[in-house]
Amino acid sequence: MRTLTVTHPAGSYPILLGEGGLPAAGEELEKLGFQGRCAVVTNATVGQHHAVPLLRGLDAAGFQAIRIDIPDGEQHKNLETVSQLYNQFIAARLDRRSPVIALGGGVLGDTAGFAAASFLRGIPFVQIPTTLLAMVDASVGGKTGVDLPQGKNLVGAFKQPEMVVIDPLVLNTLPMTEFRAGMAEVIKHGLIDATDHLFKTLEQHARTYSQNAQLPVDQLHNAINVKVRVVQADPFEQGRRAVLNLGHTFAHAFERLTGFQMRHGEAVAMGLICAAQLAAARGLCPAELPGRVVGLLANYGLPTQLPKLAAADVWEAMFTDKKRQGNTVRFILPRAIGDVDIFSDVTKSEVIHALESLASPLSS
Ligand SMILES: NC(=O)c1ccc[n+]([C@@H]2O[C@H](COP(=O)([O-])OP(=O)(O)OC[C@H]3O[C@@H](n4cnc5c(N)ncnc54)[C@H](O)[C@@H]3O)[C@@H](O)[C@H]2O)c1
Ligand SMILES: [Zn+2]
Repeated sequence: MRTLTVTHPAGSYPILLGEGGLPAAGEELEKLGFQGRCAVVTNATVGQHHAVPLLRGLDAAGFQAIRIDIPDGEQHKNLETVSQLYNQFIAARLDRRSPVIALGGGVLGDTAGFAAASFLRGIPFVQIPTTLLAMVDASVGGKTGVDLPQGKNLVGAFKQPEMVVIDPLVLNTLPMTEFRAGMAEVIKHGLIDATDHLFKTLEQHARTYSQNAQLPVDQLHNAINVKVRVVQADPFEQGRRAVLNLGHTFAHAFERLTGFQMRHGEAVAMGLICAAQLAAARGLCPAELPGRVVGLLANYGLPTQLPKLAAADVWEAMFTDKKRQGNTVRFILPRAIGDVDIFSDVTKSEVIHALESLASPLSS
């Protein structure tokens, strides 16, 4: 098993990456000095496939583990579920030393993480992400939280985990649509990465990776490492961490205007294309970059044609994004593959021009 160490202001934690990580998680947790009671928070979808090996491993390592199921789906990422979790934590007599282990995708990790961050003012937390998106994105960086009726992720806390265990074998049960959604974020990381190695490897092996709906451990490692480097440099999201929002200024507007009917990964795919197109129109990046982004996304089965939306409405929707600062909207734009930066001077006409020029599909 490989270990990536993430340092943060209060210490550090390991990301353990490798096949067989799931059954070994109990032993690893014990090595970190934990013992006694713990709770595995999962849902029926993930739990049916992956809870048993985890619980067995915890049992073998001497833990008294209880399984807590919460409902599956973004519509349950809310305070009602958090409140149910508090009740179950009390019933299970968890104390300040009892780890909460999140076994599931980003929705589950965000919800269980927020419950762990707030119960008894914070109890230990372990992430075992089971979607590609959660592996490369949601489980790393310490952000947890839930949605309010008024908007997504409006309540939350920074909660650094004790460890993250990533077992690529759990991806065997992940539906293809979820794999693709995760690939949009992996491709985003390929564009952010300080070298172009990840992006080029994804291009070279697109057929194999997408047919198998699997990334080799090396590429998983590279994709995770992009997020690790960025969050280490900016643990509380005060500056550089914004680069992780590459494509997301557009994506959030598309999601909002389509009433959240569009999958996040699909919106991100289109957002990446828009950011590349805008950058190329500014002369910031090579003219062929948007075509490479389109080609790569298409090879992983992601949509590359924009939804039919009025460009001016997209611009308006960007101003209701909670991540905007004051009256400016920040855009993350690529200078090259592996080199992105933050820009606050993008004009309405540039955005509209980029959207309109993409209305007719780019050739890749
Ligand atoms: N905290 C962060 O920094 C951060 C970053 C990015 C995204 N997020 C959040 O992550 C969430 C999206 O996460 P997601 O894309 O993982 O979606 P998800 O958690 O909803 O998972 C997608 C579906 O796949 C199922 N599933 C998960 N693993 C499986 C497996 N191995 N086999 C079969 N089914 C499986 C889930 O139960 C669910 O039905 C959003 O709420 C988003 O806000 C958080
Ligand atoms: Zn995203």
